[in-house]
Formats: sequence, C-alpha cells, structure tokens
Amino acid sequence: MAVSKLKIGVLGSGSGSNMQSIVDAIAAKMLCAEVKLVLSDVQDAKILDRAKRHGIPCQWLDCAPFKTKLEGVAEERCIQLLRDYGCDTIVLAGFMRIVKQELLNAFPNRVLNIHPALLPSFKGIAAWKQALEYGVKWAGCTVHFVDAGTDSGPIIIQRPVPVLDDDTPETLHARIQVEEHKAFPEALRLLSEGRISFIGRRVYVK
Ligand code: GAR
Repeated sequence: MAVSKLKIGVLGSGSGSNMQSIVDAIAAKMLCAEVKLVLSDVQDAKILDRAKRHGIPCQWLDCAPFKTKLEGVAEERCIQLLRDYGCDTIVLAGFMRIVKQELLNAFPNRVLNIHPALLPSFKGIAAWKQALEYGVKWAGCTVHFVDAGTDSGPIIIQRPVPVLDDDTPETLHARIQVEEHKAFPEALRLLSEGRISFIGRRVYVK
C-alpha cells in the first residue's frame, strides 16, 4: 500500500479540538501527515493557541467585510498562504464560513469538512441543536469532501451517536465530538493510504 504524507492546512474558527485530534493521531503514528499551517478567521480563537503550543505556524485571517463566507481578498490570501506553506490537503475543522469555488479549484478533491450531524440532515449552524429540537433518536457526525454547496459534498465517513432522553445541546454535542475526533483522523488516514475513490457522489473505500 503506497502511503503519501499529507501536508495539511487547517481552517478553523473555534476551540480546535478536531485539529488537536489530527495532531494527536500524527503523534501516535496513526496518520501519516504533517499540519503545515493553521488559519483562523477569529482573531482570538483557541485553535490558534493550540497551534502555537504545538509549534505549528498559524495566523489570523481577516475575512472582512464578509461575515459568513471566505471570499475576495481574504480568499486569495488564504490560497496563497496554503500554497506558500506547501499544503496539499485542506481541513475545515470547525470553520464557520462558506468556502467558495476559488479555494476548491486550488485544491481539487482535497478539501475536507467535518459536520456535527448525519448529513444530509441538519446542515448549517449548531446542527446538534437542530437534531435535538427535531427529536431524532440518532445524531452523529459526517466527514465529507467539500463542494460548492453548504455541507453537501460526497460523504466519506459517518459516525452515529444515540440521542438520550436527558440530553441537552451541550451533552449531545460533547458526545458527537468524541466521535468527530475519531472520524476526522480516520478519513485523513484513508486519504493518505490512497484508499478513497469516488464516482459522482458515492465515495468508495478500499
Ligand atoms: C465541531 O463540532 C464541528 O463539527 C463544528 O464545529 C465544531 C468545532 O469544534 N463545525 C460546524 O458546525 C461546521 N458547520 P472544534 O473547534 O473543537 O474542532
């Protein structure tokens, strides 16, 4: 099996626990990869502190004037930085903006996202809360390739989580995150081992 070392660029907006799970998987030799760069659209995001602690180059990416998307000058700068740091795989780890076609064109079939729901249910913001309010019995997480839509690209891995009677949004999200921290490194491992192919929307794992 030919394993290629992934050169990962991470985009995140929050605490960075998913980025941490990737860094931990690399340290444990469960994933052949290096995190080359971490970018955050939130200046004081914890993900930047985590990156610094691990000696990973990181920067705040000023995405103004846009509030919900990565577009224009910020998008150009983002692509340039990811290229400058030699990234070949882009990981959206809690990045709360829509990425546009320019970034997808720059890294074709190499932009992955994690979403805290079993897609295609509950796209968008606070998916675990949407699931709880809807009354589903199973929630979970999805790792997927990013396409031009919102949370709509081909699905690589899903991990289900039961919804318990006494769940609050916080307890449910915490249990979903436990599964996220397994699913994202696993999807990246499959990618590095060249075991992923897809026809149309359907992803096949060898
Ligand atoms: C994660 O639960 C991730 O699935 C979610 O944000 C959280 C980030 O946590 N992403 C989205 O909702 C994107 N639509 P983290 O910063 O600790 O990795």
